[in-house]
Amino acid sequence: MVREKEFAFIDQSYKPSRNDLICLFKVTPNGMSLKEAINNVALESSIGTWTPVSSNKKYVNKLGAKAFAISEKRGYGWVKIAYPQDLFEFGSVPNILSSIAGNVFGMKAIKGLRLEDIKFPQKLLKSFPGPRYGIEGYRKMMKIKDRPFVGTIVKPKLGLKTKDHARVAYDSWVGGCDLVKDDENLSSQKFNLFDKRAAKTLEMCDKAQEETGDKKGYLINVTAEALEMLRRADLAKELGGKFVMHDIITAGFSSLQTLRENTTLGIHAHRAMHGAFTENPNHGLSMMCVADFSRVAGVDSLHIGTGIGKMKGGKEEVKEIDEEMEQRIVSKTKTRLDQNWSSIKPVFSVCSGGIYPGHVPYLMKNFGKDIIIQAGGGIHGHPKGTKTGATALRQAVDATMKGETLHEYGKTHEELMEAMDSWGTVRF
Ligand code: 3PG
Ligand code: 3PG
Ligand code: MG
Repeated sequence: MVREKEFAFIDQSYKPSRNDLICLFKVTPNGMSLKEAINNVALESSIGTWTPVSSNKKYVNKLGAKAFAISEKRGYGWVKIAYPQDLFEFGSVPNILSSIAGNVFGMKAIKGLRLEDIKFPQKLLKSFPGPRYGIEGYRKMMKIKDRPFVGTIVKPKLGLKTKDHARVAYDSWVGGCDLVKDDENLSSQKFNLFDKRAAKTLEMCDKAQEETGDKKGYLINVTAEALEMLRRADLAKELGGKFVMHDIITAGFSSLQTLRENTTLGIHAHRAMHGAFTENPNHGLSMMCVADFSRVAGVDSLHIGTGIGKMKGGKEEVKEIDEEMEQRIVSKTKTRLDQNWSSIKPVFSVCSGGIYPGHVPYLMKNFGKDIIIQAGGGIHGHPKGTKTGATALRQAVDATMKGETLHEYGKTHEELMEAMDSWGTVRF
């Protein structure tokens, strides 16, 4: 048992410097005091190991993490840990994660460890590109001034042949969707190979643009092995595409950074698999951290949850993530650290997962107009089909923009009324 004064990585009086990256952790110790567990976390995530080593040098100690602001609760505690930015390779998400979210999650010293939020120091922050377009860039590209974007996911999520996929996309666009995206698990399966899908669907996108006079976007999923991913992104660009979509968790942040460096298309980020490590309130990495790394790495739009649809994630959590994505100066809350995002552009938040027209007033009230509202089932499940379903979702946005209730608006817009008859409205 190490005595408290020997906890070299704890300094309760520590005042973080402007060159520190700060992490907020919730720590549940395993068979030891909270301080001992925290000391273990701070050392393993910076320069230490389980025993002092003779190869250490004095200059190395300067890079040691400092745990401070410890608040002990029954059986667990909160702590902030400050990491000197020189510990990290600048501009590398994987490198930072391997320290602050690496070995520590598997140590016997902890029963649970949850990384709630990260605050980047300015120099480290600016070593990342951030979004190329972000909210403003997307708005310019799509010529949509101030309403939320309306999007859909082609459904059935897997299995449609290319021709039918492209047709569903076309119907969605002409019905009123701005954006159509692939689902997270569609890449290049034999029923719908990437190259053919890109050609056919982008052709339909052009046709829908010409017919409606509105800008339309196809978010094609380019997730693949890195070189193949880049080939696919290039092809999408050659064919006139404006966006690509990337599964940031299953493909990984390195893959995302490669994409950001090598394409000029807008990057739509899907977070499939995040629930494997964001759901346990006592262990893992919060969705907030995923969002932080997505913003620095440079996604333009990111799924953040809805607070109301089919996926987990409560309203407060989603609201805090939405603020983190779109504000320049973010204030601290119980589980969020403050952050000045400086020149890193805001990211468009995507509300998706079990959404239908009745949810629109709730989404706009809670998350504002700078959101992309997406529905798969909530469009293609409309009793009159995809095109009418897209019209209904767009009408729900138009109604809310005008300050009218969906019921009022529905009296003169039958597509919306039919959607509400099918799925209802939402009390909130
Ligand atoms: C690992 O990569 O497995 C750890 O860094 C092991 O390090 P240790 O032997 O010092 O615990
Ligand atoms: C997504 O990728 O967000 C989901 O496929 C949404 O689909 P849903 O609207 O049918 O739930
Ligand atoms: Mg999906």
